[in-house]
Amino acid sequence: MKTVKINTGRSYEVVIDSDYSHLLEKVKSVVNGKIMVVYDENTHILFADTIKKCLAGYKLTEEVLPVGENTKSIAEYSKLIEKLAKKKFTRKDCIMAVGGGVIGDLCGFVASTYMRGITYISCPTTLLSCVDSSVGGKTAVNLPEGKNLLGAFYQPSLVYVSISAMDTLLQRDIECGMGEVVKYAFLDGRITKKDLQNGISEDLIEKCITIKKEIVEKDEFDRGERAKLNLGHTVGHALESLYGYEYSHGLCVFNGIKKIIDLSCEYYGYGEDEKREFESLLKVYPYTEIPEIETSKIMEKIRIDKKADEDGVNLVLIKQIGEVEVCKISLSKLEKMLK
Ligand code: GLY
Repeated sequence: MKTVKINTGRSYEVVIDSDYSHLLEKVKSVVNGKIMVVYDENTHILFADTIKKCLAGYKLTEEVLPVGENTKSIAEYSKLIEKLAKKKFTRKDCIMAVGGGVIGDLCGFVASTYMRGITYISCPTTLLSCVDSSVGGKTAVNLPEGKNLLGAFYQPSLVYVSISAMDTLLQRDIECGMGEVVKYAFLDGRITKKDLQNGISEDLIEKCITIKKEIVEKDEFDRGERAKLNLGHTVGHALESLYGYEYSHGLCVFNGIKKIIDLSCEYYGYGEDEKREFESLLKVYPYTEIPEIETSKIMEKIRIDKKADEDGVNLVLIKQIGEVEVCKISLSKLEKMLK
């Protein structure tokens, strides 16, 4: 078992364990009331029996929500809040999310607002949520007008990652998580090609979480340093939306980083050697290349991205492996660079 301590306004532990055998001990250290455990339909089938056995002795209630992004809605948020109120949850009680980013973001937001904040525990079960969304306190639901428009910064009291959950993932979900893992390899040289070749392990997940921790501790409320975590995301989000969310988030991040490599080489005046070096890191994990799309369509999406204004867009560029820089690039320059 490994532990990473996150020193934000509320400090907490991220436990990375091979299974759930230390869950009870860790939960005991942060909750002495009752617990509402929230699953999606898949994670309920996969993990509910184990979680119930581990937390025998606690008064548990279970909620099982539909799989998919539509669950991150005000409707599901209201239902959970009402259930907490009906079951007389108080601030000494807890809501625990068992699932990927959708369940985690929703439960985190519920926890942040119910009674102005109750204890929140996250048990992320996808690679993507282990290395990204479960750490750092971003919680949100979507509005019809856009993703994550209603949210709060609210740190959990505990994050418990069980590596055993990674064995349940489909190839698509592994590829999705690996997009974010490879992003960390560009942000910080502590993740090497060898780490990526070795695949998912406690070690690799610990390294990703440690890199995110260091960034979040410098900028808990996303006013500067944290923007670096968006490497590959501006183009990636454009691709996700242009393809109608047919491709996973992480796969679009992979393809977004591919474009950022071209842009970085042009911006810093790098030649073929640097480009080859960057591309060889990107390609350690054999991700799917999604079909090319016209630059004008990508630009249409980037223009309405929240990181863009009339002066341009903040893009995270790769100076060298392990060092990125946030650069404001005018939209006209970006359009030329992307062509
Ligand atoms: N997922 C980016 C962040 O947590 O800031």
